[in-house]
Amino acid sequence: MGRSKNFLAALLLVVLAAAAACTSGGDGGAGGNQNAGGTGGAGATRQKKGANDKVFIGFLMDTLKEERWQRDKDLVEKHAQEVGAQLSVQVANGDDNLQIKQAENLLSQKVDVLIVAPHNSEIAATIVEMAHREGVPVISYDRLIKNSDVDLYVSHQVIKIGELQADYILKRAPKGNYVVVQGSATDNNARLLHDGQMNILKPAVDRGDIKIVVDQPAREWLASEALNIVENALTQVNNEVVAVIAANDGTARGAIQALDGQRLAGKVLVSGQDADLASLQLIVEGKQTMTIYKPIQPLAYGAVDAALKLARGQQVETNDTVDNGRKKVPSMLYEPLAVDKNNIGIVVKDGYQTLEKICEKIPADQCPKL
Ligand code: GAL
Repeated sequence: MGRSKNFLAALLLVVLAAAAACTSGGDGGAGGNQNAGGTGGAGATRQKKGANDKVFIGFLMDTLKEERWQRDKDLVEKHAQEVGAQLSVQVANGDDNLQIKQAENLLSQKVDVLIVAPHNSEIAATIVEMAHREGVPVISYDRLIKNSDVDLYVSHQVIKIGELQADYILKRAPKGNYVVVQGSATDNNARLLHDGQMNILKPAVDRGDIKIVVDQPAREWLASEALNIVENALTQVNNEVVAVIAANDGTARGAIQALDGQRLAGKVLVSGQDADLASLQLIVEGKQTMTIYKPIQPLAYGAVDAALKLARGQQVETNDTVDNGRKKVPSMLYEPLAVDKNNIGIVVKDGYQTLEKICEKIPADQCPKL
């Protein structure tokens, strides 16, 4: 709860700073504060909504494959209902053409604002163009839409996630061979994560302390891809690997399966991300070393609240900007947290997962005490 107080305090500062930037005409450069005004682009035809008008939000999702995305969907639905918005959720299942079609359909149904978790960070720029032609603002959700005039980005601090993963592992495995399993090459988050990881690992590589023997993207963030990558890496270096930097929990589980095949699970350190139940179970079992906990509620609720504001032509408070290749996108970035066996209670206290389920597969006396 202390953390959420800190967050509220930080947010208040951001709001105040944003207000100050507004009155002083500040442009909120990189790392500064900036407001997303959501013009909806040139040639806007859609009327802005009044304070009491019902807002129609379209939520375009890439996938529900990872546990977290079901949570995003549920929370966006819950909050849309709470604030009295109409909502349509569409899931593209990794199909870019389908995601564009779904956007077209929502625009023809006269949606007021789109929240988009893009499958492909580049291709989704088309969705922003289409929406803006109709004066519909677009929020980039969790993953950045590159090279577009997108109105707002809500996400976690992705570079920091990569840094937290690498920092945690490097402290515990300061020497030896590393395998890096990246996320999908179509996802800008995978690139940012990798940048963050390399910020930490590169100096150790340069010192000759560690060697990255394999560094490859897992197509579509698939566990099966991670399994292949790690199996091949193990063969290549005769199992001489001290750590696998896996981009998320799905790929971590693929890596652990490969390690299990060589009786190395629990001996080789493995990072992850998302605090999936299956990975928290592997953490208490000792097979996965850590994960990154990203509270989804602030993200989902923040996106819905911002969507209402943009649809009404109001300002949205932000705490950062991220360059998407075309502009510095006003962004609201939330704090990620490294979680291991010792502080696993955080996800329980936050109501993200229950201790009963986390400890389901281990003897009760081995379950961490909170
Ligand atoms: C990323 C997201 C992660 C993970 C991954 C696979 O963009 O930030 O939380 O779920 O996609 O869907």
